[in-house]
Amino acid sequence: MNVVCVGAGYVGTVTAAAFAVLGHSVTLIDIDRNKLEAIRRGVSPIYEPYLSEIIGRCADRSLFADSDYGKVAEAEAVFICVGTPSKADSTADLVYVRGAAEQIGKHLDPKRYTVIVNKSTVPVGTSDLVASILEDASGLTHGVNFDVVSNPEFLREGYAVEDVFYPDRIVIGTGSDRAENVMKALYAPLLTRASYAELGDLLPYLKTDDKKPPVWLRTTPQSSELIKYASNAFLAVKISYINEMARLCDALGASVKEVAAGMGLDSRIGGKFLQVSSGWSGSCFPKDTAELLATSRKYGCEQQVVAAAVEANFDMHLYCVQKLQARLKTMQGKRIGVLGLTFKPNTDDVRKTQASVILRKLSDMGCHVKAHDPQGMELFAKLHPDLAIEYCDTPESTTSGADAILLLTDWSLYLEMDWENAGGAMRRRYILDTRNALDAGRMREWGWTYEGLGI
Ligand code: UGA
Repeated sequence: MNVVCVGAGYVGTVTAAAFAVLGHSVTLIDIDRNKLEAIRRGVSPIYEPYLSEIIGRCADRSLFADSDYGKVAEAEAVFICVGTPSKADSTADLVYVRGAAEQIGKHLDPKRYTVIVNKSTVPVGTSDLVASILEDASGLTHGVNFDVVSNPEFLREGYAVEDVFYPDRIVIGTGSDRAENVMKALYAPLLTRASYAELGDLLPYLKTDDKKPPVWLRTTPQSSELIKYASNAFLAVKISYINEMARLCDALGASVKEVAAGMGLDSRIGGKFLQVSSGWSGSCFPKDTAELLATSRKYGCEQQVVAAAVEANFDMHLYCVQKLQARLKTMQGKRIGVLGLTFKPNTDDVRKTQASVILRKLSDMGCHVKAHDPQGMELFAKLHPDLAIEYCDTPESTTSGADAILLLTDWSLYLEMDWENAGGAMRRRYILDTRNALDAGRMREWGWTYEGLGI
């Protein structure tokens, strides 16, 4: 099938590459010439494991990059995958969605039926909004010449390739059987996995095929749009819950690792997303919980549980600073080596990262911060030019002269470090591991004063 994806960000690039490698002919549209050039050269414009390999396989064969919307006229399906950043009032800014819809409308072929798919995370009601914009721009009729479908994306950064090939569910919000049939044909390669075996050399994920096929769920557009927000907010609540529990464990002398293991064995709860951290963050949970709260307040049914989870999450960032301070006492002039600036491993995304809150607080308290991240340093420095941070080329160099190491992101690089010999040049060998990711016993054996969260 002929497919167009508008927006070469995380969602658009991964979606386009997956459809292209699975046999569709896909054009990825973006205004950023650097991204288009990268895709044409067969390289991913973003850091995401295995994505360059896939793009390399299909660039200029089944995956094309363009700044022009001309291919919309030939497409069976056009995906809107543009960003929906937060506005000052926390609601989602639809300026890019509107712009994309207008351009798509101008290029629709009146002689053909097209499905326009909202894959961006968009507030409830956006399907109707996009349909109106398309009607105005094209002079065509929604439900006759084209249909708008909500099809939220659930992929995680860092695991986007795995998630796109093995989704738990494919949610399609539409009132139109015809549109659903187009979507089913489009997703057929993911539902049948017929060509997965051929891709096994490319993707280790695809070598074992023991995962359940995705559930196809058709809903109203409103439900589909809300499923996305409700899912992300629920996951955020789950993490805030276990993080708060970790604080109670610290107070009571219990271990949150054991508590989470015991809770997770209840199949109604499940063990995933019970991993302690300095708080959730990233480009999705903060913006999506903010939008959900703004909408729920606007409609007079504030989601109080979500509001509490957001507050608890912010407190968790600060709790890490408090734990450091309890150990180091005065913070003025203390040297802190920070490992990890991205909001989680295997991504270069440092937007709205918990590190930005924590590092700012440490700076405000007069600490000297040395930081390392294998992917996020350059962008972090660009986003926070006012923060006086000494960026280090290696994780080991954050330890020299440091009073404490603060492990924020559990990159495997940090877990595999030679901790036995690292830290010799520290003022004191103290580490706060906010992911409880290192082996506490070994660390102590090697002479570290080791603390985690809730253990
Ligand atoms: C999240 C959702 O998991 C995806 O399903 C969704 O598609 C995506 O948002 C989106 O809306 O686009 P993502 O933001 O990539 O994905 O990251 P997650 O893996 O969910 O992690 C979010 C934050 O929670 C990270 O800071 C992570 O370190 C933290 N986290 C996660 C924990 O602290 N503990 C956990 O147990 C899990």
